[in-house]
Amino acid sequence: MALPIRIAPSILSADFGRLAEEVQAAEAAGADWIHVDVMDGRFVPNITIGPLVVEAVRKATRLPIDCHLMIVEPERYVEAFAKAGADLVCVHAEASPHLHRTLQVIRAAGARPGVALNPATGLEAVEWVLGDCDMVLLMTVNPGFGGQKYIEACTEKVRRLRALADARGQALEIQVDGGIKADTIGKVTAAGANVFVAGTAVYGAKDYRQAIADLRAAAERSRA
Ligand code: DX5
Ligand code: ZN
Repeated sequence: MALPIRIAPSILSADFGRLAEEVQAAEAAGADWIHVDVMDGRFVPNITIGPLVVEAVRKATRLPIDCHLMIVEPERYVEAFAKAGADLVCVHAEASPHLHRTLQVIRAAGARPGVALNPATGLEAVEWVLGDCDMVLLMTVNPGFGGQKYIEACTEKVRRLRALADARGQALEIQVDGGIKADTIGKVTAAGANVFVAGTAVYGAKDYRQAIADLRAAAERSRA
């Protein structure tokens, strides 16, 4: 049984001055999750938001909030994000040497744990903690900014990760993040991804409902 297709608009591309409205608009338009990009200006060059903003997003929606931590020493903050209302907390393998422990801390804090990998990081970085993850996020651009171009080599990486999860009999959520649009979502879906972050593809569109419907339809077509 294939996992459900989940479209997760990234608020990175939303109008922050009207954040609650923008989150509600995505929910009303058919989003499945809300993706929150946390950047510290150290792990990635950009700086974005912290737990306070997650708390505000929590008040604005009932959808699961998926927090993507692009920060060094994420273990110092995972509990704060879970407490702020994150349903999923994803840390980068490159930033967390004691990944196994960090994943346990996230689960103990009541959130679903995930690991994110940069495009250049091999799957072996997550292989030995796969059983402790509900989700693996494969970056399909270099993290830090929205609006970048999908890196083609990532399609094969998704395929190998899905094969790895299937071989273990694990219903792993595989999330792809970066450059996901109606013309790239098909190939990553066919490769085995089921959670799709979409920043500019949703918040850059005039009609959020149409944008989400187009993404979902393209993903579903490639599964048929
Ligand atoms: C990039 C972030 C992404 C970003 C994706 O570092 O992790 O979530 O918002 O933006 P798009 O969909 O525009 O590539
Ligand atoms: Zn992200």
